[in-house]
Amino acid sequence: MALRDRYLFVCINRRPDQASRGSCAARGSEALYERLRGLVREHGLAQTTVRACSCSCLDACLTGPTIAVEPDHFLYGGVTMDDLEPIVAALARGERVDRLVIERGGSAVGKGPRAE
Ligand code: FES
Repeated sequence: MALRDRYLFVCINRRPDQASRGSCAARGSEALYERLRGLVREHGLAQTTVRACSCSCLDACLTGPTIAVEPDHFLYGGVTMDDLEPIVAALARGERVDRLVIERGGSAVGKGPRAE
């Protein structure tokens, strides 16, 4: 068993297209998950530092695609392909990308200062 320092849980939940909340998969999270896994490997973090995993709904559907970061215990929301490199680079520095962090109890994405 190889415990990592951090785990990234990428929601790949999919709902029907007509669902009012939508879903992360409908917003492209499956491709995000695959690219994130590749970036973690490319940055040399995969064996000891970071494990990217897929998961089901994280209950932040309206601001998806959503990624949970543990044990830091926060969510990234509204993640795009362009956000993945900054996310992994920040992880390598032991930091986070504040502009993508979903604030507790709300959907405020993009209000924080940029970490990268
Ligand atoms: S569908 Fe991804 S957070 Fe709910």
